[in-house]
Amino acid sequence: MRIAIGCDHGGVELKQAIGEHLAAAGHDINDLGTHASDSVDYPDYGKAVAGAVAAGEADRGVLVCGTGQGMAMTANKVDGVRAGVCGDVFSARMICNHNNAQVLCLGARVTGPSLALEIVDAFVGADFEGGRHSRRVEKIG
Ligand code: RB5
Repeated sequence: MRIAIGCDHGGVELKQAIGEHLAAAGHDINDLGTHASDSVDYPDYGKAVAGAVAAGEADRGVLVCGTGQGMAMTANKVDGVRAGVCGDVFSARMICNHNNAQVLCLGARVTGPSLALEIVDAFVGADFEGGRHSRRVEKIG
């Protein structure tokens, strides 16, 4: 899977760990930054990752900021992109199964790194179930 990842200064370490984890699992990772702890604006990175998904350059996106919330707000503004903040494995699976989300948002100041990697694995391993959920997802659009 082609996965674009991005973060602000609050998520650099977790984003790095996620990138290495997903690359080790065989995924093609496009790291769109940020790469340092200098303060940056999360919408710039949220837009970059969501834009890559919308453009078909990535199959999925993973975004990290302090809470994940600002990244989700940003990513959901990009036409055709559905993003969700997850702090648990069940939700990470369900946003794919039922909501056909392409972008996972994590809060590095909320969710510990071990759980975050489990959440990422659940997200990447899940697919949209279609059926009755297709109608609902179309209504989001
Ligand atoms: C940055 O301090 C913080 O506001 C940001 O990482 C994020 O939590 C916003 O949603």
